[in-house]
Amino acid sequence: MSDQNEVPAVGGKSFTAVAINSASKAGEWIKTKLGNHTSLSLKYSAQDLVTEVDKGAETMIRNLVQTHFPHHSFLGEEGVEPGPEASDRALQSVRDAEYLWVVDPVDGTTNFVHGFPFFSVSIALAHKGEVIVGVVYDPIRDELFVAEKGKGAYVRGRRTQVSEEQTLRDSLLATGFPADPNYALPINMRGLQALVPQVRNIRSGGSAALHMAYVAAGRLSGFWEYGLNSWDLAAGALLVTESGGQVTDTKGNPYHLGVRHAAASNGHIHEAFVKVLEKAESDV
Ligand code: IPD
Ligand code: CA
Ligand code: CA
Repeated sequence: MSDQNEVPAVGGKSFTAVAINSASKAGEWIKTKLGNHTSLSLKYSAQDLVTEVDKGAETMIRNLVQTHFPHHSFLGEEGVEPGPEASDRALQSVRDAEYLWVVDPVDGTTNFVHGFPFFSVSIALAHKGEVIVGVVYDPIRDELFVAEKGKGAYVRGRRTQVSEEQTLRDSLLATGFPADPNYALPINMRGLQALVPQVRNIRSGGSAALHMAYVAAGRLSGFWEYGLNSWDLAAGALLVTESGGQVTDTKGNPYHLGVRHAAASNGHIHEAFVKVLEKAESDV
């Protein structure tokens, strides 16, 4: 905070306080719009949806963040052209920023559109590429998951801790069905086919950020998905590691903002988990 640029424009709120405030305000507003959205369009594919609520929530979060930190960079899903290449380019253009907010205003838009009550607001702050604050808010359950680098992660005022399962056999995993039908979906399906018979069961709730928060809270043993974006993963990744878990790409390499094919777990099962994914990837 020594840099003059980092002096907040309004008040002296901490990064975490601004992240929490923005996620809660946006989440409350999103909840009032459940069942009331007025526009629905497709983005990258027939499975990639956007409503005016996604855009409105992102604008709200951007305005709140910029009121406090006008010199920080901002990467929000709705400010980026659809598709993996455009997402990569957008991240590259801001990745080295001193402070970068990485935001998914509604993670789980399909659920929001259908009234399936499992979606979240995901807000992360990265300092020189390293995530230092992560907030995932579920407005339906009013659950706010908060992590600060080196200080742990919390939900409902209690420290979150990953689960204890030691083997895939005892594990409950989650995954998603990616919107990219060309690369990510088929490869994810191969992982699914390989893992189903080896684990206790697999869920697919439809919000990557909330799945990551559930791994952090010990409600899931692990989560993986191919073809995600920085805004799906950044906040959840810090939640998981600050809760004692592990986050890598699907080959076991360390997580960073550019990771798109991600595996998160309680750590105990990680090696076995990633091994199955790697084998499924290469067994074409
Ligand atoms: C999607 C959700 C979903 C996952 C997709 C994501 P969106 O994000 O996280 O669970 O399977 O790959 O794109 O589009 O609702 O923000
Ligand atoms: Ca998302
Ligand atoms: Ca989204």
